[in-house]
Amino acid sequence: MLTIALSKGRILDDTLPLLAEAGIVPTENPEKSRKLIIPTTQDDVQLLIVRATDVPTYVEHGAADIGVAGKDVLLEYGGELYEPLDLQIAKCKLMTAGKVGAPEPKGRLRVATKFVNVAKRYYAEQGRQVEVIKLYGSMELAPLVGLADKIIDVVDTGNTLRANGLEAQELIATISSRLIVNKASMKMQHSRIQALIDTLRSAVESRHPS
Ligand code: ATP
Ligand code: PRP
Repeated sequence: MLTIALSKGRILDDTLPLLAEAGIVPTENPEKSRKLIIPTTQDDVQLLIVRATDVPTYVEHGAADIGVAGKDVLLEYGGELYEPLDLQIAKCKLMTAGKVGAPEPKGRLRVATKFVNVAKRYYAEQGRQVEVIKLYGSMELAPLVGLADKIIDVVDTGNTLRANGLEAQELIATISSRLIVNKASMKMQHSRIQALIDTLRSAVESRHPS
C-alpha cells in the first residue's frame, strides 16, 4: 500500500488534479466524507486526510509514505524528510507584518505567530532580541490589541492584513507546497515512488512551462 497524506482545502483542491494525472482518484469526495482514510481508484493507494501542520509528522514517522505540505509548514517543522518536488501550488509569502505606520519598537520586539521556530531563527540571524508569542490562528488580531508588535504569517493577496489595518513588512520566504517523502519508503518502494514523482513533475511542468 502507498499512503499519501493531504490536508483538506487548498492543498487537496490543487493536488487532486495532479494525482489524477498519475491515475490516482479518490473513490469518494474527501471534502465531503467524514472518513479520514480514503481509498482511490488504485487498490494499493490510499489517502490520509490530516491537518496541514500534521502532514510532515505522518510522513516522517512512516504513517504515510508521501505527503503534500506548504514550505512554511516544512520550515517550521524541520525533521528528516525528502522534498523531491515543488508542486507550485498554494503559493504565498511568509512575511512579517505590523500596524500601518507604527514606528519600529525600540528594544525587545514581541512577535506573535504560529511559526515559532521560523521566527526565532529569523530574528536570531539578525541579532535581534525578540519575545515570540505562540498563537494557533487569527494572528492579525495580536498587534491590534497590544499582544504583540508584529506578526509572522503567510500573505497572498494582502486582503486579510488590509482588513485589519496591518501592512506586510519583511519577506522571510516565498512559499509553495512540496511533495515530501518518508526516507525509508523512498528506499523500500523506490521505483514506484520515483515513477509517481516523475509523473507529477511532468504534470507540474505542463502547467508551468519555464
Ligand atoms: P492548519 O489546518 O493545520 O491550521 P492551515 O489552516 O494553515 O493549517 P491551509 O489554510 O489549508 O491550512 O493552508 C495550507 C497551506 O497553504 C499553508 O501551509 C500555506 O503554505 C498555503 N497557504 C495558506 N494560506 C494561503 C493563502 N491565503 N494563499 C495561498 N496559499 C496559502
Ligand atoms: C490564510 C492566512 C492568512 C490569509 C492570507 O488564511 O492564515 O490569514 O490566508 O491570505 P490573503 O493575503 O490573501 O488575505 P486562510 O484563508 O487559509 O484561512 P485559515 O486562517 O483558516 O488558514
